[in-house]
Amino acid sequence: MSASISLFTGDWPSSIEADVLIIGSGLAGLLLALQLASTEVKVVLASKAALGESNSAWAQGGVAAVTGANPFDSPELHLADTIAAGAGLTDVAAATSIVSGGARLIDAFAKLGVPFDKNPAGVFDLALEGGHKQARVLHSKDTTGRSIVEALADRVRAAAVGGRLTILENTCAADLLTLGGVCVGAEFIADDGVQQVRASHTVLATGGLGQVFERTTNPALATGDGVALAYRIGAELADMEFVQFHPTALRLDNAPAFLISEAARGAGATLLDHKGRRFVRRFHQDGELATRDVVSRAIHTVMAEYELKQVFLDLRPIGAEALAERFPNIVKTCAQYGIDVFSEPVPIAPAAHYMMGGIRADVSGRTSVAGLYAIGECSCTGLHGANRLASNSLLEAGVMALNLADLLLSTRDKSVGAVGQSVAGQIVIPSDLQDFRKQMYRHAGLVRSRLGLEGLLRTPAINISASGQLSIEQLSARNIYQVGLLIARAALMRNESRGAHLRDDYRHSDDVNFARHLFLSANAGAAV
Ligand code: SIN
Repeated sequence: MSASISLFTGDWPSSIEADVLIIGSGLAGLLLALQLASTEVKVVLASKAALGESNSAWAQGGVAAVTGANPFDSPELHLADTIAAGAGLTDVAAATSIVSGGARLIDAFAKLGVPFDKNPAGVFDLALEGGHKQARVLHSKDTTGRSIVEALADRVRAAAVGGRLTILENTCAADLLTLGGVCVGAEFIADDGVQQVRASHTVLATGGLGQVFERTTNPALATGDGVALAYRIGAELADMEFVQFHPTALRLDNAPAFLISEAARGAGATLLDHKGRRFVRRFHQDGELATRDVVSRAIHTVMAEYELKQVFLDLRPIGAEALAERFPNIVKTCAQYGIDVFSEPVPIAPAAHYMMGGIRADVSGRTSVAGLYAIGECSCTGLHGANRLASNSLLEAGVMALNLADLLLSTRDKSVGAVGQSVAGQIVIPSDLQDFRKQMYRHAGLVRSRLGLEGLLRTPAINISASGQLSIEQLSARNIYQVGLLIARAALMRNESRGAHLRDDYRHSDDVNFARHLFLSANAGAAV
């Protein structure tokens, strides 16, 4: 049996045992923890920052789900829109299962007190978003993710008092522990030192990787940790070349790429070029409500055509009253940056937003490594194919959490594996992290080419010996670098254009050779 590589070289780190270790406290991690918390299962929930700080909390638009609130909608129609958005790579079995889990998820959220908006008749108010042929997006104003995460986090905190649930905050996973090819927990770095959690079942719910790119709508903690952790122990990854760029992120010098929700376009907002002309219909008949890959590329093309740094999103067609009522956070945040959305359009440009690929998993989160599960954005079930349908992300995260809870509660094996001897390790990070992120945006962003991608693979890097305690920043830089190179490798393998992946040197889809998933693993190298 091979021992895990540990980054720790001092005395044996403190260790706790759990039946289930959950890494990540966004929607998926919190919901799973809550489902297990009222049972006999001993759970440790580790959060890189404060509980609930996550990509989920930053999601604005909502949760796509068929609940009966729209009499014209059905799971079949939702599935059809999901498949159409996925550009030929949606896993239909996974998508069917996840879409049909929507009603159960919304029911669970309602019981937990998530305040979804309702119309005067008391029925869920449903938004339309790009790629959806029906209004089916449940929302809580324009801060849906935060409403869900806050509701869940409050209950998780309450469940931890005197229960069998332990919460570790500001605790960053450094590496997963394995014994004989089985995942048996993880090693963490926190302010007060190194800690090992030994567990029968280890769940990655670490969210996204937007920070791999210079411009992103994601929070600072979205550094691809789960994907990198899983890859380092040989788990299979899928579809790593498919990164979604959100079309409408604020574009101002010295301001973050704040997301302007797709729901704004669903409510009537229009995209304008520098001369105030609408342009998306030039590229697709659905205009502003085409799928995200199409709209982002349309914006990119117009920006390149006129050498622009940004185009504009005009929110005024929504109407002042509806704008204030439905999008208060967007109104407030834009005002903080000096933009009055009631009287002027908002400068925007695409930004990295969501990873369609990730750790290959089934709809209950099982990965290719025994004892290891992945749920939510860090996983890849194939639901999203080559391009995710708007608001299917929170749906997938929640349904997978419920599925995995069912699976774990029906699993009798609660034995905690022994951990092998620690040995000293070292990590590799880019010599200039900010430059690497800039180059990723430039060469692995909306438009890619062989030369640019090959250049990324030659990024200068440095080794850091783990003789002392590593910082969370160093661990994050290591993951950004590793995941960035995996994206570049996968993008080099896919010699065609499809969904979110556009190769300048292969501008068309090639169904004969590439209507399939690409897999990567540290054990097997690249497999097609
Ligand atoms: C948005 O509100 O546009 C983002 C939600 C999502 O990514 O689906």
